Formats: sequence, C-alpha cells, structure tokens
Amino acid sequence: MNYVEEIKSLDNVPSHIAIIMDGNGRWAKERNFNRVVGHKRGSDIVSLIVDVSREAGIKILTLYAFSEENWNRPKIEVDALMSLLGEYLTKELPKMMKDNVKLTAIGRLHSLPQFVRDILDNTVSTTANNTGLNLNLALSYGSRAEITDAFISISKQISDGSLSIDDIDENVISQNLYTKDIPDPDLMIRTSGETRLSNFLLYQLAYTEFVITDTLWPDFTPKKYYETLKEYSFRERRFGLTSEQIKGEI
Ligand code: IPE
Ligand code: IPE
Ligand code: MG
Repeated sequence: MNYVEEIKSLDNVPSHIAIIMDGNGRWAKERNFNRVVGHKRGSDIVSLIVDVSREAGIKILTLYAFSEENWNRPKIEVDALMSLLGEYLTKELPKMMKDNVKLTAIGRLHSLPQFVRDILDNTVSTTANNTGLNLNLALSYGSRAEITDAFISISKQISDGSLSIDDIDENVISQNLYTKDIPDPDLMIRTSGETRLSNFLLYQLAYTEFVITDTLWPDFTPKKYYETLKEYSFRERRFGLTSEQIKGEI
C-alpha cells in the first residue's frame, strides 16, 4: 500500500501537523536495550515521517524533539540526544536541499551545546530559501518559557515606546512567540498513549485537533500516520460555532 497516495486522497489533509514523539525509552526497555537505542531508532522514524509528510504535501511539520524539562534527564542520555540531533541534521542536510525542505527551530536554542548550535544554524540558513515542507523542530522547548519570553519581549517594546498597551491583542501575542511566522497546528499527534501536553505549544493548540495513539514513536509507521490523518479527516472543527453553521445550513 502506498500511504502517501492514501493520505493525499483523504478529505481535509492538515496543513500543519505537530507531533509529540514519545515512547523511545519504553520501546528500548521492552527489548532490554539502553534508552539511547530507542532514541536512535526514533531518529530513523523522524526521517521516514518527514519523507511521507513531504511527499503527501503537508506544509508544516513541527516535531517536539527535546523539552526544557528534558535537560533534567541523566547527563549521559542528554549528551546522547544532543549527539543524535547533530548527526541527524548533518546527515539530512543534503537530502533537505534535494527535497526542498526548509528547517526551522523553536525553543531556547541558546541552551543547546555549541556544536549543535553551529550545525543547527548552518542547516537553518542553508535551507532558508527552500519552499517545500517546513520541518520545524522544537528543541529545548517549553511553552511556559516561550510565553515568559513573549511577556519580556512585549514589555521591552512598551518601555522603549515601540508598542502601546492599547495595541496589545492576540495577534501581538502570537507575533512574540517563537512560532511567530508559523500558523497554528491543525492536528497534534502524541505517540505512546500519554494524554498530556508536557509543556508543548499551550497557546498555539487552542483549537487544534488531538489524536493520541498508543503506538510508541519507534514503532510509528506510514500506515499508522495515515490512520491518524484518517481519524482527523472525520473531525468537525467548529471553533465555537454550531455544526449547522459549519455545514452552511443556517
Ligand atoms: C521521547 O521518548 C523522546 C524524548 C523525550 C527526548 P522518551 O525518552 O520520553 O520515552 P519514554 O517516554 O521514556 O518511553
Ligand atoms: C515530551 O515527552 C517531550 C518530547 C517528546 C520531546 P516527555 O517524555 O519528556 O514527557 P513527560 O515527561 O512524559 O510528560
Ligand atoms: Mg516520554
């Protein structure tokens, strides 16, 4: 089965998909492997899902790869995750250029180790003019940190006179988030069955549809991806209106 074609044939394919890629550790533990083996396998699944997304014409794919809170994991795991991130970006850059993929990143990127910063900055600048899939990585990302940073940024603009309090509205807030140039996700997928946001895009997910799958991220396949997108295609997004209004019946 060609799941790219299956996805393309669905009604309402989301243009922005955000994924909490969870379950690498449990996948490894089930097999008596070190957690890092799960992360390695997880990064291979990232390549696969990026390919399917691009081929299916998804416009933006935001992947939660490392949270602010993940810094508190054992140093050996954090170091391995940083190395994997550097390896992923280095390995994928030629492919991103071939496939017209634009890489962006959100989060407190200054907290990343310098070698990752260098690779990341190079990947972002090299792919900046690509016009295909926008792969947006949430790295050292925490939504409360993002909202805090937005408060600081807005306060500075008020104190230097470039913004008036009367001008603050939802658009100003959106424009001061790390996601300022990126529309809100249509669909949020979380793997591994956990039904929480874990500090991910609290503001941006206000009207996003959620699909939670029990599948662990290293077991996520194009077929499972297709199934979550199929589930989304049956949803009715009402944005506070009635079903009749949405269907244009009244
Ligand atoms: C997700 O998998 C990857 C990161 C958070 C970096 P986990 O490492 O959280 O896997 P589990 O939840 O322990 O199974
Ligand atoms: C969320 O997963 C962060 C990422 C997937 C990068 P966690 O595994 O860190 O979330 P909690 O701790 O279970 O809420
Ligand atoms: Mg987890």
